[in-house]
Amino acid sequence: MENRSQWGTRVGFLLAAMGSAIGLGNIWRFPATAYESGGGAFIVPYLFALLTAGIPLLIMEYTIGHRYRGSAPKSFATINKKMEWIGWWQVLVAFVISTYYAVIIAWALMYAYYSIGLTWGSDPTAFFVGDFLKLADPGQLGGLVPKVLIPLVIVWAVVLGTLSRGVKKGIEVANKIFIPSLVVLFLIIVVRAVTLPGAMNGLNSFFEPDWSRIMDAEVWIAAYGQIFFSLSIAFAIMVTYASYLPRKSDITNNAFITGFANSSFEILAGIGVFSAVGFMAFQYDTTVAGLAAEKGVGGIGLAFMVFPEIISQIPGIPGLFGLLFFASLVLAGFSSLISISETYVAAVSEKFNISRQKSVVFGGGVAAILSLLYATRGGLNILDTVDHFINSYGVALAGLVEVVAVAWFAKELKALQQHANSSSDVMLAGWWRFCLGVITPIVLGFQMVQNLTSELA
Ligand code: PHE
Ligand code: NA
Repeated sequence: MENRSQWGTRVGFLLAAMGSAIGLGNIWRFPATAYESGGGAFIVPYLFALLTAGIPLLIMEYTIGHRYRGSAPKSFATINKKMEWIGWWQVLVAFVISTYYAVIIAWALMYAYYSIGLTWGSDPTAFFVGDFLKLADPGQLGGLVPKVLIPLVIVWAVVLGTLSRGVKKGIEVANKIFIPSLVVLFLIIVVRAVTLPGAMNGLNSFFEPDWSRIMDAEVWIAAYGQIFFSLSIAFAIMVTYASYLPRKSDITNNAFITGFANSSFEILAGIGVFSAVGFMAFQYDTTVAGLAAEKGVGGIGLAFMVFPEIISQIPGIPGLFGLLFFASLVLAGFSSLISISETYVAAVSEKFNISRQKSVVFGGGVAAILSLLYATRGGLNILDTVDHFINSYGVALAGLVEVVAVAWFAKELKALQQHANSSSDVMLAGWWRFCLGVITPIVLGFQMVQNLTSELA
């Protein structure tokens, strides 16, 4: 059984794990969440969530994968037969996410191309919801083909091609290219953004602490939610990736490195995004708060409607900033999509004893076909609904069930702690078990209740 694929190097594993973590969540979710949840004051609940839930859970998932050497369903099943479905559920959530994540990357790919000619014209909003999402040339035969089809095919070809080459030659090599390139591109963007007129105003609005929010339960929930999504926790990913680690690996240290790298990238993204928003406020002679209230500073709206407007107005080579921005989205997206898709590729190939290639064709093929659903006219609404449902319930519930099952039901934390400690120079102690057995279940349980009641209200 020891012919299981392995990472070639420790750096390879770390880049892949960071690649999964660093994604759209860092670029368009963190800045908006922080801004709306107390600005600079958000750092307190955020760091608290990182240290009491994010990193402890990351250590737990890494240890489970490393110890039981299987995809999520197999690793959970090894802990206890009754827990196999937890892994499948996470794999299913990952599968669903992959179907729309691919479409978003395909849009970013198109927008990188459109940046060159600033094709969205003077009204990017109308371009996105009107022209761009439409099928090409309605009325003719080509009207049946969504515009996003070709980029979508490219996205799946890259992702599935990477996965079929395996862990070391595929996933590791891709991340060794994508992640350093992403960091370089993004640094250029941030340097350009902070030197724009109005940038300092944007940064002041972003970092200005609103301490009155700090006792707000919602702000704390937002912090934990951001950390979970951002670290790709409870998506079967980190268990799968850690299952390819060689026997002698410092799990605990790796988790700290992944966690801090991801957070650094989030703060960097906050600086870039809010400098750009400050610039736009300056252009329109308005305040950052006014602009944020009117246009929103996160999500699909930020990337495909607000940013094109900003890009069109930036002095210098027309569209260059846009090209860099959308290329970053593409790189960040690819490395995350590879990790999400690997969860089902690994799980299916293990469960049914088929080759990785067959599993890629089968699992990836079905995901690719389903992603066409979002490429249609009504696709944006489907995407919104699915995304909302997955984020509110799929993830929090999967995380809750996972910690409760491992910590309480299987009483597995002591064994995992010993396992992690046996090859690390950072020793886990009782606080680690307390975070997982007590703090995380309380927070996630509370979050579930909150989501449900706000839904019913
Ligand atoms: N962690 C990624 C991000 O911050 C998102 C992601 C979620 C990736 C789920 C894979 C799976 O964007
Ligand atoms: Na992230």
